[in-house]
Amino acid sequence: MRTFHIKFRGMRQESIIVCRKNVLSKQLKEELPRLQAGGALIFTDSNVFGLYQRQIKALSLPVFVMPAGEEHKTEQTLFSLLSAMAENHLRRSSTLIALGGGVVGDVGGLAASLYMRGISCIQVPTTLLAQVDSSVGGKTAIDFCGVKNLIGAFHQPELIYVDPAFLRTLPQRELRCGLGEIVKHAALNGSLFDRLLSCRDTLFDIDLLAELVPENIAVKADIVQRDPMERGLRRSLNLGHTTGHAIELTQKSLSHGECVLLGLLYESRIAQAYLETDGEYLGKLSALIRTVLVCDPNEIDVENAARLALLDKKNTARDSVTLAVPVKKGEYAMLTLGSSAYEAALRELRGTL
Ligand SMILES: NC(=O)c1ccc[n+]([C@@H]2O[C@H](COP(=O)([O-])OP(=O)(O)OC[C@H]3O[C@@H](n4cnc5c(N)ncnc54)[C@H](O)[C@@H]3O)[C@@H](O)[C@H]2O)c1
Ligand SMILES: [Zn+2]
Repeated sequence: MRTFHIKFRGMRQESIIVCRKNVLSKQLKEELPRLQAGGALIFTDSNVFGLYQRQIKALSLPVFVMPAGEEHKTEQTLFSLLSAMAENHLRRSSTLIALGGGVVGDVGGLAASLYMRGISCIQVPTTLLAQVDSSVGGKTAIDFCGVKNLIGAFHQPELIYVDPAFLRTLPQRELRCGLGEIVKHAALNGSLFDRLLSCRDTLFDIDLLAELVPENIAVKADIVQRDPMERGLRRSLNLGHTTGHAIELTQKSLSHGECVLLGLLYESRIAQAYLETDGEYLGKLSALIRTVLVCDPNEIDVENAARLALLDKKNTARDSVTLAVPVKKGEYAMLTLGSSAYEAALRELRGTL
């Protein structure tokens, strides 16, 4: 068992992250008297409910199940969940338990932030991505008007229970997706980078991943507690994401994690062209990325990707793109490029990766 206490700079809130086995059958069961006294509702998705319904039902708490998938990260799901919370008489003292991947965590966290102006939330992340990334840091959202995460709030969960057993039912594609964020964290933290490099041939091994999860949580927790509202340092977590998000919009068949890795590959080469970088280190980072990726980085639709990257909400100006790029071991830099320079860089790199 490993526990992290995150105290957010400048805020009174804190989150406790507990990494342990048997969260459903032991941890939450032990907490049932407290949860039942205050009122609680379990929010999950159809896949997770299908796989874990015996343990979920054994908790004897009301359950609201959303259909699985990003396409349901909508205002309809949010309001159906809020209705279920009201119908089950949740109060200010009640708790929403978000049991699922990043979609459940984001929608559940947002509902908890809105209901009665904010009730307590326990996150139980069940995907690798949610365990190492989305459940930590209090960002919540739904997609709206065709834009990802357009409506959201910062709402720190009171508790995050991370159980490695959930990884055993995850499809390989979802593991690859989480590994995208793990490699991103390694690009921000030298010792995690060395660790991944030393075991790069067995990165999909569940026992190894179970060990890597707390190490990744430590990296993310350290960043978000120093910059909870993303005013500076937290932007480093966008590494690979500007180009990655753009690729994600043009290549629907690829997972978010694969797109982040592709983004990292392209952006580290762009960094080499514009900034003082450690070429040997970036070569090793690329090699690490390629052990996880199965697609060809030379096949992305660069022109379209560049156009979409310009719509990215993190850009400082309409005709430019701001990237968080890796430069040296454990170091990143923010790089703003004019739109035509960015598009030209992507076009030139295609075919050379
Ligand atoms: N809030 C943040 O800081 C943050 C950070 C990164 C990503 N996100 C968001 O997270 C979402 C992506 O998260 P995700 O990749 O977890 O997607 P997801 O929640 O859609 O889960 C992926 C798939 O795995 C299934 N699943 C979940 N747990 C399972 C298990 N244990 N066994 C088998 N199947 C399981 C789900 O039903 C789903 O089909 C995106 O909406 C993204 O915007 C948020
Ligand atoms: Zn991501």
